[in-house]
Amino acid sequence: MLSLIQIARFFHDLAFTTWIGSMIFMMLVLTPAVGGKGIPPQFLRLMGIERFKSWAWASIAVLAVTGIYRLYGRFYMFDLFVMSRYGKLMLLKLSLFIIMVLLTAIVSLSYAKRIPAEAPQRPGEQPTPEFSRMQRRFITFSALNLALGVTILFIMAIIR
Ligand code: HEM
Repeated sequence: MLSLIQIARFFHDLAFTTWIGSMIFMMLVLTPAVGGKGIPPQFLRLMGIERFKSWAWASIAVLAVTGIYRLYGRFYMFDLFVMSRYGKLMLLKLSLFIIMVLLTAIVSLSYAKRIPAEAPQRPGEQPTPEFSRMQRRFITFSALNLALGVTILFIMAIIR
């Protein structure tokens, strides 16, 4: 019989794999493929920047719910928790997670719709300087978010 904690662990693992895995795919495969080549918005849409946003938010929700559930039993004395190496690393992880959520909010609210909408309309057409600046900022935020996600994975590898 499966326990709730096993189910929570499974969904926690599935959620971070989905979120960090799609970020790795975007940064290592999609972004270099698109990079300043004047790819038309229909194609950007097909490549799923907007769709990725929904999966990112779903993963964040699942991570928060399953993570808090898994933490619940360990949290009976906050003072002891923050004094332990485990507690310190967990709090560092949660702080990084909050920064990731903020970066995801910036990317989803300001870039996910504007990038496909303001991309060059025809193949081969040069992007405007404004669009190129926006695309560079989008890539910087996404790279920073991925670096934070990988740091969390490292923290979880050494937490025990
Ligand atoms: C509110 C947010 C989160 C909370 C409260 C949380 C909490 C936890 C807890 C309690 C564990 C079990 C640690 C142990 O074995 O003692 C865990 C494991 C783990 N978490 Fe999180 N987590 C959160 C978000 C994240 C995020 C954003 C990532 C990745 C980007 C992540 C990646 C991992 C990994 C890799 C493990 C170890 C594998 C596993 O046991 O499932 N977590 N998390």
